[in-house]
Amino acid sequence: MEYTISKEKFDRLSTDIARLREERKAVILAHLYQRPEIQDVADFIGDSLMLAQKAAATDAEVIVFCGVHFMAESAAILSPDKVVLLPEERAGCPMADMITAEALREKKRRHPEAIVVCYVNSSADVKAESDICCTSSNAVKVVESLPPDQPVLFVPDQNLGHWVGLQTGRKIIPWEGYCNTHDRVTAHDIEKARVLHPEAPVLVHPECKPDVVALADGVFSTAGIIKYAQASEAREFIIGTECGILHQLHKTCPGKEFHLVTNKLVCPNMKSTTLDKVQWCLEEMQPRITVSDDIRQKANAALDQMLALS
Ligand code: 13P
Ligand code: SF4
Repeated sequence: MEYTISKEKFDRLSTDIARLREERKAVILAHLYQRPEIQDVADFIGDSLMLAQKAAATDAEVIVFCGVHFMAESAAILSPDKVVLLPEERAGCPMADMITAEALREKKRRHPEAIVVCYVNSSADVKAESDICCTSSNAVKVVESLPPDQPVLFVPDQNLGHWVGLQTGRKIIPWEGYCNTHDRVTAHDIEKARVLHPEAPVLVHPECKPDVVALADGVFSTAGIIKYAQASEAREFIIGTECGILHQLHKTCPGKEFHLVTNKLVCPNMKSTTLDKVQWCLEEMQPRITVSDDIRQKANAALDQMLALS
């Protein structure tokens, strides 16, 4: 994918960022949905699980999280002695905002027998009310690890919850949240893409709606899509997740072709981080993401449960 800034600007900013990273003893983590030029300055690029693991394990003093707020918050929970910077403080996640701790407490009162599995795309307050976290790459494994006789209250993504229910045969009590980027993909989009590229397998993210997922050849997290494309004999693929993934797909699968199922697959929050902001945050050492100690301890327990399984 093309950079969204000029080559001259990229060279200037990336040189500056390299110097600041050294001075601040920082590590730069970037989600696969970030702009291409941000992925190219990052120390690690990955899905939510890989980035949470890197945040937990790093010996850097500063973590620059190029992603959205809940990701930086998880880094602050997992690495409380580090400075965590989110270059664009307003980079939120609409799905994470579809649930509050208070609303979850109310639902728990109505389902006291349920185990709460919380997709990491949620606030620290919501994680603190949950038994165990999951990401899209380990959600099935997490649910399979739970006692089989107890229902699962899965929050906040109803689409991922539905997918996990199908894979595990477990009773899932869903929360009615969804990603409004993946939710834009329709079954009709998949059918149209198949007509245009009849040889290409369709790979989608489980945040897509159930009727879309039902038409796919593979359902994976972002890192899972890349792994599948690398190992596959196929030469072209139809991709049903946010467009930022195309950058690593092209880099890691030279000679293969990737067709985004629809050009509606853009997450404005993921795209609100720019290279200027990465440089600025390292210069100013802000905006910092912190979590209060009581919430941190409870949320950490739910994240730790998940990481212990990974
Ligand atoms: P993964 O990184 O787990 O594939 O999740 C995608 C996502 O929506 C992050 O916001
Ligand atoms: Fe949230 Fe969806 Fe954007 Fe991920 S892609 S940050 S789930 S809105």
